[in-house]
Amino acid sequence: VESLAVSLEASRDRFLISTDSDRLDIDAIHAYLTRSYWAGGISRDLVARSIAGSLCFGLYADNAQIGFARVITDRATFAYLADVYVLEAYRGFGLAKWLISVVVAHPDLQGLRRFMLATRDAHGLYEQYGFRTVESPRWLMEIVRVNPYSGA
Ligand SMILES: CC(C)(COP(=O)(O)OP(=O)(O)OC[C@H]1O[C@@H](n2cnc3c(N)ncnc32)[C@H](O)[C@@H]1OP(=O)(O)O)[C@@H](O)C(=O)NCCC(=O)NCCS
Repeated sequence: VESLAVSLEASRDRFLISTDSDRLDIDAIHAYLTRSYWAGGISRDLVARSIAGSLCFGLYADNAQIGFARVITDRATFAYLADVYVLEAYRGFGLAKWLISVVVAHPDLQGLRRFMLATRDAHGLYEQYGFRTVESPRWLMEIVRVNPYSGA
């Protein structure tokens, strides 16, 4: 499948979105995620491992990493969107909306049976790209670790 090897890019003024994993600044991504509400305390090694096993979308301003989105997927039937952020200084300019629009348009993420995500308060962002709250939560199960990286 050719699209597995080809990285996808989109640009707007000084901003770039790319799926090229060689461009990713793991230190910058780790610096944000380790202070996020969902992955607080995560180690750099674990961030690097998660990236290695995912379809990643980097967001750059003049080639500096200012945002990120990670899709865990078989590229055929299922995907899970995670670790979405835009750095504080760049918020409110529509960059997250652009990022999510590029994610959901990716050729390897078309016709999926289910595309999932979890969010505390950004439902209104994802609703603009077709995501809906789970209609039948009874059908879904999970194993969740609370504060998984607290170091205890
Ligand atoms: C959420 C986040 C990625 C938005 O980035 P952004 O570039 O400022 O967002 P945009 O400018 O593209 O606009 C976001 C849109 O979603 C809407 N929205 C809904 N919930 C939101 C939320 N919790 N935070 C920000 N925007 C939200 C906004 O109203 C806006 O829509 P509108 O322009 O139609 O009014 C950014 O605030 C962030 O990194 N937050 C911290 C990390 C986080 O919560 N990530 C999501 C985890 S699921």
